[in-house]
Amino acid sequence: MSEAIRVKNTGLRGVTVADSAISFIDGEKGVLIYRGYRIEDLADRSSFMETVYLLLFGTLPAAEHLEAFTRQVRNMRRVPGYVLDSMRHWPKNARPMDVLQACVPLLAMAEEQGDALDRQVCLDRSIGLVAQMPTLVAAWHRIRNGQPVLEPDPDLDHAGNFLWMLQGKRPDPATAKDLDVCLILHADHTFNASTFAAREVVSTRASLYAGVAAGLGALSGSLHGGANAKVMEMLLKLENEPDIEGWVSAQLARGERIMGMGHAIYKTGDPRAVYLKRMGQRLGEQTGGTWAAISQKIEETALAIFARQGKTTILPNVDFNSAPVYYLMGIPTDLMTPIFAISRVAGWCAHIIEEQFADVQGKPALYRPQAQYVGEYCGLMGCEYSPVDRRK
Ligand code: COA
Repeated sequence: MSEAIRVKNTGLRGVTVADSAISFIDGEKGVLIYRGYRIEDLADRSSFMETVYLLLFGTLPAAEHLEAFTRQVRNMRRVPGYVLDSMRHWPKNARPMDVLQACVPLLAMAEEQGDALDRQVCLDRSIGLVAQMPTLVAAWHRIRNGQPVLEPDPDLDHAGNFLWMLQGKRPDPATAKDLDVCLILHADHTFNASTFAAREVVSTRASLYAGVAAGLGALSGSLHGGANAKVMEMLLKLENEPDIEGWVSAQLARGERIMGMGHAIYKTGDPRAVYLKRMGQRLGEQTGGTWAAISQKIEETALAIFARQGKTTILPNVDFNSAPVYYLMGIPTDLMTPIFAISRVAGWCAHIIEEQFADVQGKPALYRPQAQYVGEYCGLMGCEYSPVDRRK
């Protein structure tokens, strides 16, 4: 038997487990690329729909393809009535990420080929999930608040329609555009925890829905997508705090983390955070909000302490700066991670298809790492079993 490679307790940092043609990160230079295109170019010049097409199909669409794709997504926004009916019976204080994760298998139930491994079927399901995820998030928010669920508006773009279904008023076009840019910035991020979870699940030949549900579960954690809500909770807590510097110092002295700072890959800066910081500052100036000033103080204090500790690679990440942006758009704190999911579902689906159909890596392998057994061991015959009445 060949000797196992040991990468214990490293979270698989630095271990390459597959080939992928979907996205690329240079953590030293702070570069993020989707299918060859820099994230800044896509944020400035593309749209979320175009970015989804790029991730799923591998190329930027020609005008007629983009138009047809956009129409297809808009036509698929409604969710089956039985999903909404089920949601009406769920506890009103259920966390939106749990609700979203629970809804994905419900959508799967409507599919005739429950576990189909056909590329076209998987692409159609991916497009369906991209279309329906905002509907699910908005519907849950309205159901939990005792409000009627709103029909999607085919005249509105992806972000604008989400804001409409959530808030029940016509979105301001500038806000919809900003949200569209946020969606572009979150759409994919190589083998992060949720994408790896999704790929790992479908490596068993489980369905695309099963992979997306796994991705949602992984994203919900506070060290991953859940960090944006934690950042907002921190900002709200510090809104009236006269000594932000003291709070940050005490937090770090206790060994606690500052949410929204640090990244497993980016070591000189997260390009998404840079973009969102500018957006947050602009929105803050327009609305007179104080978040930019509070964030700035937290950032400066934490960076100074990290520098004294020689930890110069802990810098603000995407969640640090997306949280105040969403807040200024009127989005409740517990919907910030679901919005991340509304975007990241595009990346998960692209990765699931790449995994399922072995687009770049040849014969797909079932992920099967191993653990160093450190439990009880009495030899290969096992420990002597004693019946329950003879145990002390
Ligand atoms: N605040 C305080 N200290 C932090 C920190 C933070 N946000 N992020 C990392 N550190 C410290 C750790 O305490 C550790 O210190 P130690 O060596 O003295 O024990 C050191 O930096 C390395 O931490 P580790 O978790 O191993 O590094 P990583 O690069 O793998 O961590 C994260 C990446 C994202 C898990 C980590 O930075 C984190 O927990 N950030 C906060 C959560 C967050 O924003 N998540 C969203 C990521 S996009």
